[in-house]
Amino acid sequence: MPKTHTNNVGGEKSGLMKSSRLGAILDLVPDDCGVVDIGTDHALLPIALARRGQQGVIIGSDCRSGPLEAARSNLIESGWIDRVELHLGFGLEVIKGRSDVETAVLAGMGGKNILDILTRELPQAKSLRLLILQPMRDGHHLRCWLADNGFGLIDEELVEEDGRVYEIIAVGREGSNWDVGDLAEEVEAPGSWLVGLGPCLLRKRHPLLLPLLNSRKQEMMDVMADLQAKDSERSRRRRQELSIQLGRLEKVMQWLSR
Ligand SMILES: C[S@@+](CC[C@H](N)C(=O)[O-])C[C@H]1O[C@@H](n2cnc3c(N)ncnc32)[C@H](O)[C@@H]1O
Repeated sequence: MPKTHTNNVGGEKSGLMKSSRLGAILDLVPDDCGVVDIGTDHALLPIALARRGQQGVIIGSDCRSGPLEAARSNLIESGWIDRVELHLGFGLEVIKGRSDVETAVLAGMGGKNILDILTRELPQAKSLRLLILQPMRDGHHLRCWLADNGFGLIDEELVEEDGRVYEIIAVGREGSNWDVGDLAEEVEAPGSWLVGLGPCLLRKRHPLLLPLLNSRKQEMMDVMADLQAKDSERSRRRRQELSIQLGRLEKVMQWLSR
């Protein structure tokens, strides 16, 4: 069964936000390590970490001063301002040279933004024990990049909140490889493409994977319908690409339904 998280992330005094998405991320963070929440916005995750008694430093960072001020207000209001460090800065630069942070969370951002942040500090990103990534879009692209750039795969999770399914990807230096050769044979789809769907999700036959793929299929069909009205060489090529993707998606969906 899919996990249902009822954590009141952030606590009563700090935004009253019940988020199963942030609850699932919190569950993946070991409680005995230093953590940085990059793009912390309202500091809901750092507050939840402090409340559960995280052992190790807790850092919230953001590249914009507005969200960082919202984080500061929430921390003051919730009484955790002395427990959480706040830093203004781009991506992983806020933990440069620090050895007390072993886990980084990058949540609620586009997959390409996450990829950009990791690319800028690649050696540091790869040295972390754990990276918990929650892309809002382009999860397929992000996974293929992580696999190509030597990040070990640790775990993946799907969680539903307000009718939307969110993807969470945990990678790190102790993770394993992304090999899906056996699944590729079973599903009859290219392994390099299946990697983007999530090896752990496929192996778990995660109960939310079918609904997620169904919504992706719908999005692709909407794009296809728009393209039908256009007659350029570019849109013809795009239609061809999309129909290949749709065919593969159908195969995975049939395999999941078996
Ligand atoms: C939509 S909020 C997500 C907040 C929270 N992490 C969550 O999952 O609910 C995204 C935040 O990421 C910040 N952000 C985007 N790119 C960033 C970067 N390169 N470095 C630091 N923060 C970034 C934005 O300013 C924004 O506050």
